[in-house]
Amino acid sequence: MKQGFLKAAVLISGTGSNLKALIDAIGTTRLDLNIVQVVSNRAEAAGIAHATTAAIPVSVISHADFPDRQSHDAAVAKVLEQSGAELIILAGYMRILSEDFTRHFSGRMINLHPSLLPLYKGLDTYNRVLESGDNETGASIHFVTAGLDSGPVIAQVKLPVLPGDDADSLKARLGPLEHKLLIATVDLFCKREITYRQDAVLFLGEIIKQPLQLKPDGRFI
Ligand code: GRF
Repeated sequence: MKQGFLKAAVLISGTGSNLKALIDAIGTTRLDLNIVQVVSNRAEAAGIAHATTAAIPVSVISHADFPDRQSHDAAVAKVLEQSGAELIILAGYMRILSEDFTRHFSGRMINLHPSLLPLYKGLDTYNRVLESGDNETGASIHFVTAGLDSGPVIAQVKLPVLPGDDADSLKARLGPLEHKLLIATVDLFCKREITYRQDAVLFLGEIIKQPLQLKPDGRFI
C-alpha cells in the first residue's frame, strides 16, 4: 500500500518531545515520513529548536496576534495547505480549534491525548485519573473532529497506575509511551493503512470497533 514518503505537518505549543521523537524516528527507523512544516502558536515554545535543528520550516503564528479564534485558525490553515502536508499531527498543540478548521482538515488531522479516551477529555488528565482511583491510564491518538478530544480513536497505549503515583510520576512514565504510540501510529499512516470514513477509523479497509492497542514491543495487536 505504501506510496512514498508521507508529507506531514506538526503543530506544537510547548516542549515538543513528541515532535523530537518523530524526527529521531525518521533518522533511526524506517519511518517514511517527511515533516514539511512545524507550526507553533507560541514563539517561546522549546520544541521550535527541534525543528530548526532538523532544518524543518517553522511558522510561529501567535494566537495573541489575531482578534479571534477563527482568524488565527485561518492563518494556520493557510500555512498548512501551502506546505502540502497530507497529515496534520497535533502534538501538544494547546488550542481549542474552530469548527471550520476541524471540518477543513477532516480525516487528515490527528491528536495525541494523555488519557484513555473517551475518559478524561480536556486538561489535567493525570490528577483526574488519580482522583478517580483508576488502576490504569494511558494515551490515545484520535482523528480530530469538532468536539474537544472527541473524534474516533485510532490507537492507545496503557499504563498501570502504581501506589504512590502522583501527576508528575504518571506524566514521566507516560511520556516515553506516548512517543512510541505516536511513532507507531504515524507509521501506519505512512503505509497508508489507516483511513477515516464518516466518524470511523478504517484499518486496512475495515472499520475498527476498538482502538488498536500498542504492546511493549512497539507493535500493535
Ligand atoms: C503530551 O502529553 C500530549 O499527550 C499532550 O501534550 C503533551 C505534549 O508534550 N497533548 P510534548 O510537547 O510533545 O513534549
